[in-house]
Amino acid sequence: MVDVVLVEGEAAETLSRLHFACFDEGWNAATFARLMSPKGSFALLAYNDERSQQPAAAIGFALVRHTRGESELLTLGVVPPCRDAGIARQLMAALLDRVVRDGATTMVLEVAEDNHAARHLYETFGFVAVGRRAGYYRRDEGAADAVTMRADLARLEV
Ligand SMILES: CC(C)(COP(=O)(O)OP(=O)(O)OC[C@H]1O[C@@H](n2cnc3c(N)ncnc32)[C@H](O)[C@@H]1OP(=O)(O)O)[C@@H](O)C(=O)NCCC(=O)NCCS
Repeated sequence: MVDVVLVEGEAAETLSRLHFACFDEGWNAATFARLMSPKGSFALLAYNDERSQQPAAAIGFALVRHTRGESELLTLGVVPPCRDAGIARQLMAALLDRVVRDGATTMVLEVAEDNHAARHLYETFGFVAVGRRAGYYRRDEGAADAVTMRADLARLEV
């Protein structure tokens, strides 16, 4: 079991480190600080040691924006050695619980078409594909489409 906690702007460096560990194009700390600053935006960190919330113990993260009832999952990741242990599932449950309490009625996100792990995860939380952006993710091996997914949070059991 991990500890999932809400974090403030001072966690931007930790969020950036984790993002670089999870994605080819990492986001720097300034980007996280900027994305976290609007009212309604928040980030979560997952720690693998419930007794320690030191930056080095952080293994997963999520960043969410919420304005006027619609929320957006901007990014989510779990460091490679800690995957397949249900940590992303815990992050999803925690962030959905928070946005529902804050009055969000929908959440949207974008995911690469070939990201089967993430798509499966989102589907199990009630997200359905509602759109596609061709060639959105540029990679050395060729571009991949982005699938836009949406969940009706009023129907969700979190
Ligand atoms: C996607 C990601 C966040 C999942 O994190 P995780 O902690 O390993 O996920 P969980 O252990 O909570 O597993 C979630 C579900 O995905 C499933 N899953 C894992 N790998 C899978 C795969 N390759 N194909 C299909 N499903 C997969 C798990 O079995 C689990 O489903 P289940 O509970 O029904 O069995 C992680 O792989 C990651 O950080 N990837 C890189 C960053 C990324 O792609 N983020 C999402 C961007 S939209």
